[in-house]
Amino acid sequence: MCGIVGYIGKRQAQPILLNSLARLEYRGYDSCGIALASSGVAVYKDAVRVAELAKSLPHLEGTVGIGHTRWATHGAPCQKNAHPHTDCTGKIAVVHNGVITNYQQLTNQLTKEGHKFLSETDTEVIAHLVEKYYSGNLVDAVENAIRDIEGSYAVIVLAEDKPGIVVARKDSPLVLGIGDRENFIASDVPAILDYTNRVMYLEDGDVGVVTPDSVSIRRDGKEVVRETQKILWSSEEAKKGGYEHFMLKEIHEQPRVIRDTISEYVLATEPVLAVPDGRLDSVLLLACGTSYHAALVGKYVFEELLGIPVRAELASEFNYFRNCLTTPLSIAITQSGETADTLKAMKRLKEAGSRVAAITNVVGSTASRIAHQTIYTRAGPEMSVAATKSFIAQLVALYWLALSFSRLDARTALELKMKLRQLPEKVIEVLDNESRIAEHAEFLAKYEDAFYIGRGINYAIAMEGALKLKEIAYIHSEAYAAGELKHGPFALLSKDTPVIAIVADDSTREAVLTNIKEIKARGSPVLAVAAEGDEAITELADFTISVPDTDPVLSPIVNTVVMQLLAYYAARKRKCPVDFPRNLAKCVTVE
Ligand code: M6R
Repeated sequence: MCGIVGYIGKRQAQPILLNSLARLEYRGYDSCGIALASSGVAVYKDAVRVAELAKSLPHLEGTVGIGHTRWATHGAPCQKNAHPHTDCTGKIAVVHNGVITNYQQLTNQLTKEGHKFLSETDTEVIAHLVEKYYSGNLVDAVENAIRDIEGSYAVIVLAEDKPGIVVARKDSPLVLGIGDRENFIASDVPAILDYTNRVMYLEDGDVGVVTPDSVSIRRDGKEVVRETQKILWSSEEAKKGGYEHFMLKEIHEQPRVIRDTISEYVLATEPVLAVPDGRLDSVLLLACGTSYHAALVGKYVFEELLGIPVRAELASEFNYFRNCLTTPLSIAITQSGETADTLKAMKRLKEAGSRVAAITNVVGSTASRIAHQTIYTRAGPEMSVAATKSFIAQLVALYWLALSFSRLDARTALELKMKLRQLPEKVIEVLDNESRIAEHAEFLAKYEDAFYIGRGINYAIAMEGALKLKEIAYIHSEAYAAGELKHGPFALLSKDTPVIAIVADDSTREAVLTNIKEIKARGSPVLAVAAEGDEAITELADFTISVPDTDPVLSPIVNTVVMQLLAYYAARKRKCPVDFPRNLAKCVTVE
C-alpha cells in the first residue's frame, strides 16, 4: 500500500525523505515522488523505484518536504499519477494514503469552477480543494477541504509560503516522529526509525500543524493532546542484517520471537485477557490472510483446552453478514493493526456490545486504539510482505491466552507450558535442516500447481503453506482438509500436481496416511512433513521432511517453519522478488 513521509527541521530534507521512502519500500509500491519547499515547491516523481528517483534528482535545497510511495488504485502507475500532487498554482503539494470515495463528484464540481486536473487519481482533488479554501491560513484550508471529502485519508499538505506542514487523518494511519528541533511524519514507524523512536499517533479526525519545534493538533476545532510513546524497535531490526531477503531473516528470528512473546506474558499472575463477567464461555476470532490462519489454529486450541465453542471468521466476510452474530468477547488478530477489513469488523463488534481485544504487533496501531484491550506480540518490525514471524508470535500469544484460562488439570497445564517454552529449540532444529528443505523446495519450484493437505489443527497450517507458496513463488496452490480431496479435487491429481501432506503425530495420523495412499494411487508425487522417526511415512511418501516431535497442539509451530522455508526457497529458485511479491502490499488499508 502507499507510504507517506514528511520532514521539517534543521537538516536538508532531500536525503531524509529518500531514506524514509526507501524504508517504506517493503509495503509494496509502483511509483514514488517528493516535493520540497524553499523558494517555490519543487516536485519530482515517476513510476520508478526510490533508488532510481534518487539518482535522477538534482541537489534540492530545502529543510521542509514530503514524499510518497504509490500503490495504484485510481489510474495506472505512471508519472502523472504519482504523488505529490499540486494545485493549479503549483504552490500547494499533497501526498495521500487512502481512498476518496466522492472524488469524481468533487472533480466535476471543481472543474466547473475552473480547476484543471492533471492526473486520474482521487488524491489530486485534495490539492484543488485546499487551493479553493486557502486564503493565507493553511490549516483552516485543510480543515475545510476535508469537510468536503468522503472516504479515508492520511494526508500531508505543504505550501510554499508556510512555515509548517499540515497533516490530517481518517481511517488511514499517520504517525509523527518527534526529534530535536526537527519533526518527522510517516504512514508507519519503520520510515522514521533511523531518526527517532519517540512517536505520536494521530487519531481519526485530527488535523495538525507540524513545525521544527512544535506539533499542535486539533479536532473539531479544539486543541487536543496526543501522548508521545517510545518505540522499542531499533532501526537495525528493520534492516536485512546480512540476509539476502527480509523474509529469510524474519524466519530465522522466530526462536527469539517465541521467547520474547512468551516472556511478555509469563509473569502475569492474572489471566492476560480481561473477559466479561470473568467468564470465558465463547469467543469470536476475526482476521484476514495469514492472521486468519492463526485464528483457525486459535479456534482449535481454545476448543481443545477450554472446551468452549469458538468461531473464526474472515473479517472481510464478517463485515457483510446480515446479522452481526456477536459474542461477549471477540479477538481481532492483525499483525499490522491497520488492515481495513479487520478494523471495520472490530468497530462493528464494539457497536454491537462485544468486548473487543486485539492481538497485534504494532504498538499504537489503529487496532490497538479501537480495542478495549491489546495483547502485543513481540515479533519486532516485519518488513517482508509475507507474514512469517508475526504469525508465529500470534500463535504463541493464542496458546498463552488459552493456557491462562484452560480447564486442564494443573500438571497437564504445566507440562504444556514447558513444551511451549521448549519451542524455540524445536524451531532451531527445523532451521538446522534448512538446506534439505531448500532441496525439496527446488523440486517444488518446477511445478505450476500444488496441493497442501492437513487435518485438524494442521489443516490451518496447510492453508498457510499454500498461501505462502502462491504469494511469493507464484505457484498456484490449494489447501484442503486431507479428507476432502476425494470430493472433487482428485480430478486434478496427476504427476504434475505435487501434494504436500502434513502428517501430525496425533489422532489424525492414520487418516492422513490413508489419504496419502489414495493420492499416490493417482500418480501425484507426495512430500510429507512428519514427526521425526515416523518410518511408515518415510516409506510411503516420495519425499519426507522430518520435524521435531512436540505436543500435537503445538505442532503448527514447527510445521509452519517448514512451510515458510519451502515457499521461500521455491520463490528464490523461480527468481521471484521474495520480499515484494507482485500486486501485494504489506499493509492492506483498503477494503
Ligand atoms: O496485518 P494483518 O495481519 O491484518 O494482515 C492480514 C493479511 O493481509 C496478511 O496476513 C497477508 O495475508 C500476508 N501478506 C500473508 O503473508
